[in-house]
Amino acid sequence: MCRHNGLMTSDPAALTPFSDIDKRPPEFVALLLAALEAMAVVPEIQRVRQVAREALRPAPGQRLLDAGCGAGEVARQLAGEVEPGEVVALDLSAATLTAAVDRHDGSKVSYIEGDISALDFPDSHFDGVRCERVLQHVPDPDRAVAELVRVTRPGGRVCLVDTDWESMTVDGLPDHLVTLFKAHLYGRVMREQPGIGRTLRRRLTRAGAVDIEAMPVTCYFATPGASISVLPMFDPQLAGRIGIIPDDIHDEWFTAVEAAAARGEFLAALTIWVVVGTRPN
Ligand SMILES: C[S@@+](CC[C@H](N)C(=O)[O-])C[C@H]1O[C@@H](n2cnc3c(N)ncnc32)[C@H](O)[C@@H]1O
Repeated sequence: MCRHNGLMTSDPAALTPFSDIDKRPPEFVALLLAALEAMAVVPEIQRVRQVAREALRPAPGQRLLDAGCGAGEVARQLAGEVEPGEVVALDLSAATLTAAVDRHDGSKVSYIEGDISALDFPDSHFDGVRCERVLQHVPDPDRAVAELVRVTRPGGRVCLVDTDWESMTVDGLPDHLVTLFKAHLYGRVMREQPGIGRTLRRRLTRAGAVDIEAMPVTCYFATPGASISVLPMFDPQLAGRIGIIPDDIHDEWFTAVEAAAARGEFLAALTIWVVVGTRPN
């Protein structure tokens, strides 16, 4: 039985489901947005964002760009920190931006549709730029990073955040299931750029940024319940629907996940990289 009804596979040419959200059925768009919002409240993700916030160093009066803003919660938070400055929240997806605008709280944020690989802003337009979990979804991350640096003023900071999916580690499950799952994840679901997080430092260096700091933040989950918003492969409601677990091991996988949790032996971890650099004068 195929559980995912084509939700992940409506366009086989798409790099990832997040690279062309607007071409997906409305049900899938709602699913992705709900996933983003659920993730935003996970303490481990808040820890990553705190590291990123400190790296960006927002200050009153600045103009910042949140490139690939999703539902826009970080842009709105930053707007409070740069007051009387402003934040531009940019995303490729019109559906995502509509959701972000629906959540607007009156803070000084402008929502703009655009592609981080070809930004419609002049050079040096922003005091600082952040870009979280977007580069894994673009076809040419180096080009996008060059754009992010170009629109940052000399002396301004560019903060990149992305996952190293190949760092994902699991304990408590039978080895043969983990092997089958990883072959599916890296061979079929994430064919492109699963290790993007660890490449951010190199990409910022190539784009000419200086004073680069790279901070790997490892998110640790001791129960499947704590992990599901970040690791959908442990979510029995979602995993099958988005095709992240192969159909033929789905039931065995979740039986094993439940059993590991019941024994208190479940463990999962994932490293998300926060990398910051400065545009030279
Ligand atoms: C995984 S979400 C991350 C959203 C947000 N940064 C967060 O951390 O919650 C990826 C976002 O990147 C956007 N995106 C994908 N490709 C893009 C591109 N080329 N330019 C701008 N945004 C893009 C998607 O529409 C989606 O909103």
